Formats: sequence, C-alpha cells, structure tokens
Amino acid sequence: MMDATKIPQPAQQAAEQFPIAFHDQITYVGPLGAAWAPGRVNLIGEHTDYNDGFVLPLAVDRVAVFAGRRRDDTTIRLWSQHFKEYAQFSLAGLPETFEQQRGGLPGWARYILGVMAELARAGVPLSGFDAVVGGDVPLGGGMSSSASLEVATVQAGALFSGGKFTIGEENATLKPMEVAALCQRAEHSASGLRSGILDQSASCLGKPGKAILIDCRSLEYRYLPFADPALSLMVIDTGVRRELATSGYNERRQQCEEAVKILRDVITQHEPGSMQAQQIRALRDISPEQFARYKQYLPEILRRRAGYVIAEDERVFQVVALLEKHQVEAVGPILWQGHAGLRDEYEVSCVELDTLVEVAHQVPGVLGARMMGGGFGGCTINLVRNEAIETLRQAVEQRYPERTGRQASIDICRAAGGPGHTSFS
Ligand code: GLA
Repeated sequence: MMDATKIPQPAQQAAEQFPIAFHDQITYVGPLGAAWAPGRVNLIGEHTDYNDGFVLPLAVDRVAVFAGRRRDDTTIRLWSQHFKEYAQFSLAGLPETFEQQRGGLPGWARYILGVMAELARAGVPLSGFDAVVGGDVPLGGGMSSSASLEVATVQAGALFSGGKFTIGEENATLKPMEVAALCQRAEHSASGLRSGILDQSASCLGKPGKAILIDCRSLEYRYLPFADPALSLMVIDTGVRRELATSGYNERRQQCEEAVKILRDVITQHEPGSMQAQQIRALRDISPEQFARYKQYLPEILRRRAGYVIAEDERVFQVVALLEKHQVEAVGPILWQGHAGLRDEYEVSCVELDTLVEVAHQVPGVLGARMMGGGFGGCTINLVRNEAIETLRQAVEQRYPERTGRQASIDICRAAGGPGHTSFS
C-alpha cells in the first residue's frame, strides 16, 4: 500500500465516493484502488508536435482520477463526479465493438472506451471494473483534461488487471511513451481531432520541478530544471470553448502538410544532389536558412503557417538553452514572441486570448505570456514574478470583463509528477 500523503487528494475523494456510487451487491475481485494522471501546460513549442518538431511541456499538479474495484467479468461501469452520470460498456469484442458501443456513451466516457479499445488492440490483458471518475484538471480549460483522462485510463487498466499489465521503463507491458502513443490514437478515434503527441506524452512523463523536452519524431525526451522559487506559472482561462476539430486545428495540420510538399519539390529541384532535400518529410526538416531561401515559392497563407512552425522550433531550442543555465526569467520575451506568431502567422488566437496577453503585458513583473494549446479559446500561460501575482489577478479581473464581457478564471500551477496507481489495502 502506498503512503497516503502521496495519493493525490482528488483520488482520495473519489475513493470515498466509491461505496456511495456503487452500492449494489456485487462481488468484487480485488481491493479498492485508485489511478491518476496529470494535466499539462506547455512552456513553448505550440503546433510543432504534428510537424515532427519539438515541445517543452510540464505536467501540472492537477490530475484526472479513477477510484474503484475490479470485477470478475468484462463490464466497466463508471460514475462521473463532473457530469453526475453513469456510463457502462463492455470489454467484450473490443476493439471491433468500439464504433457500436461509442454511440451510446456520453462524451467523457468515449475517451475511456477509446483507450480500452486501443489497449485491447495492443493485446494487453484487461479486466472489468467499477470506478468513480473525477479529478481537478479544469475541463476544456487548456490543461489537457482529455489527455489526463486517457492516461489515467491506462493506469486504471493496469491497476485492475491484477498485476498482469504493468507500465514502466523496463520489463513492463508498456513503456510510458507507448502509453502516450496509444492514448493519442484513442483521442483521434474518440474526438476526431488529429492531435499530436504533446498532451499525452507530457502527462505520461511528468516529474516534479522539471520541464520535458520531447522530440515528437523520435519520441526521445529529456528533463530540464524548471523550478525558480521566485517565479510562478499562472494559467488564465478565457472561458471560451470552441471545438478544436471544427475550428481549424485539422485545417492547420493540412496546410503544414501542403507546405512541406511544395517546399520539398522546390528544394529538390534547386538542390538536385542533396540527400537532405530528398528526405524532407515534415516542417521539422527545413532549417530557418533554407526556409528564408525558398519561402517565396509558397502561397502567402502557407508561407505564414510554415514560417511560424519553423520559428517556433527555434524558440524551443532557445528556451532549452536558457533552462540549462537556470535562466528562467530570460524565457519571458520568447513567450511574447510565440504569442505574436500564433496570433499573426498561425492565426489560431482569438480576441479573448489576445486581450489576456495584452493585459498581462501591461503588468510589471509579468515576464512573458502567450496563448497555450490548440487555440481559438482555452487559456494563456503567464510567467510571473511572485510579487506580481496579485497585480495581474486584479488587472485581469477588472479589464478582461470590461473588454470581452466574460469572466476569466486563474490558476497557479507547479511542475508535478507523472501518473500512478495504488491499492488501498
Ligand atoms: C492541442 C493538441 C496537441 C498540440 C496542441 C498545439 O493541445 O492536442 O497535440 O498540437 O494543441 O500545440
């Protein structure tokens, strides 16, 4: 059994609710247990993941949780603390029965079914269970609530497998990055969003006080120190929710793919002997110098989209170099630049996000801010000196509603650990 102080608070709360939510006379096979996985913020490297590029996220101290018990059949019954509703599906016939079962489930449970279908496809041994699903990652608030739910689902699968399915670096059924890739596939099938691997990998790899540099092509990663006691990360939610899939995320992805095709053709024509040119597969393979030389061959929109992505990969390397030297304050200006690129070149910002960034810009002690995640709504990330937290809070509370007619919500996050599971006895 795990030290109770290490079990995230929301997991304890879900465990307390379990006997209330599931009180029928079922014979369970195992003890009460809990599984959890964190949300994430992304310091820099936005919309670079699906361009085979680089990202620099950190897992935050907010988690999605399951608390429940193993059954002796293939049924999964769930109670959502957020939505106050039950959902039920069967492991039998997965992944083939995914489509058929999906239709009858509420949105949140589709992610769980999607992950179970992918685990079944991977041949992982699974068992049925009853569980309360909850957590404190703000839903749809830009901290990747869906990815944290997916990764927590895999942990729940391991917890309720009775030791047959393990997750870890060595001698385990699945390695952390295999879990991330599997959850990314589940996200695609559950939501239709052609998302990259940023959110799921950040959730799988979190470490207290560390940012994670991830190469989204090789899936290699390494940790960088991110803990300056004088600074805080504030996440400010616009309150604007737009379905990413319908609001241009998939379109941006297509535009990047189109830009790659054009640039590869042009560069191979101009540099016929070049192996590098022939091997261009993604924007990640085009250097800023090469882009400057050939960008005039792209239609104007694609030039802006590709220009943003190539510059953003460079910004990731700049931030990495600063973190290696423990110069966290110097990261600030790079965040403002990232926002300008997302707003003007990649065009995934919106009035509300721009307003929050402008308000932050006027507050002394805010070192940098930018929109975070897919965009078109969601939240901003702000790197703030501790003494400026209150001033920024007041500025947002006053000016954001004045300019947008909406309320923003403000959270302070810390770089936290990754997913886990435990039995209570
Ligand atoms: C969403 C997607 C991620 C990533 C970001 C933008 O959060 O899920 O894969 O593409 O947008 O960086």
